[in-house]
Amino acid sequence: MIRFIENAEEKKKISRQILEALTEWFEVESSREQYIEESAGQPFWAAVEGDTYEGFLCLKETGKSTMELAVMGVRKECHRKGVGRRLFAAARDYAALKGYEFIQVKTVRSGMYEDYDITNEFYKSLGFKELEVLPDYWDEANPCQIYVMSLKSAVGTIATRHSYRGAFMQESVPEEDLITIARSGIDAPSGCNKQTTDVIIVNDAEVLSRIKAVLDPPVAQTAPAMIVVLTRRINAYRDRCFAVQDYSAAIENMLLAIVELGYQSCWYEGHITDEDRICDKIASILNVPAEYDVVCLLPVGKAADDFHAPSKKPLSERVKFNRWG
Ligand SMILES: Cc1cc2nc3c(=O)[nH]c(=O)nc-3n(C[C@H](O)[C@H](O)[C@H](O)COP(=O)(O)O)c2cc1C
Repeated sequence: MIRFIENAEEKKKISRQILEALTEWFEVESSREQYIEESAGQPFWAAVEGDTYEGFLCLKETGKSTMELAVMGVRKECHRKGVGRRLFAAARDYAALKGYEFIQVKTVRSGMYEDYDITNEFYKSLGFKELEVLPDYWDEANPCQIYVMSLKSAVGTIATRHSYRGAFMQESVPEEDLITIARSGIDAPSGCNKQTTDVIIVNDAEVLSRIKAVLDPPVAQTAPAMIVVLTRRINAYRDRCFAVQDYSAAIENMLLAIVELGYQSCWYEGHITDEDRICDKIASILNVPAEYDVVCLLPVGKAADDFHAPSKKPLSERVKFNRWG
């Protein structure tokens, strides 16, 4: 289990336990003590199993757009169990939610020491890219490799998108951002290019409050803007209609654009298309023509709360090469 640790003394206790068990990497006592001391003031995650701390990770801001993976340690006996990967995923999500664009990490360049070669491979497997080697940053025997990861690349945005159901900040969303989001939706592929999906951007306070009033149980009550997704049935060929696939592709594109622009959202479809047909009430508020159905609501706004990524099944359970099993 990954826990976000807030108490400074607990952070120091955990980082000491782990770093003192990893002297292959953290050999110099003075720099180890510095890591421990600094960890107390940094965003800090610990991997906990029963009573045992398996590892930890700290971030620090190195620029307005960049977080650095300041220090990370996983007990040797817990290597290759996905602990580091889970710690990093939690930290990456946090950095993305806070609006940072890059994460950097420094380590000793590959080809110097076996233990650090493993570290380099691990960072590359997380998706870090080589930025630069600084030969004199530490000393001649330890050339500093800087790795960087963009949180705004397509793959980075996909990895950091999660359904957000918390409160939103009361900051309006600029119209150009709403248009970018809507454009990302209508740019999606559609079966035989029938373009069966339309969207209505809602940012007028009065219209928003009328929609919020019909959302029962209430959701997205603090959202400063919403995208309402409409679909209509047009056959692509013969009796084949791909409208569901079309609007699903459009919604995912919009969710990614929303996250990339620094906002959060959630795909509210079940909530509004259930037996109570909230979608029809929304259609009536928005004067939607009869040939269209309202199928989804995407709130748009800056997150006021933190969120927790849901757990997903391991990749090996869902992805196969060449054949099943
Ligand atoms: C077709 C569809 C309908 C959904 N409807 C709702 C909904 O009505 N309410 C809600 O809170 N989340 C809804 N979601 C969001 C899912 O619950 C969410 O994607 C899932 O739990 C995985 O979490 P993640 O989006 O953070 O990866 C819907 C998602 C899809 C794809």
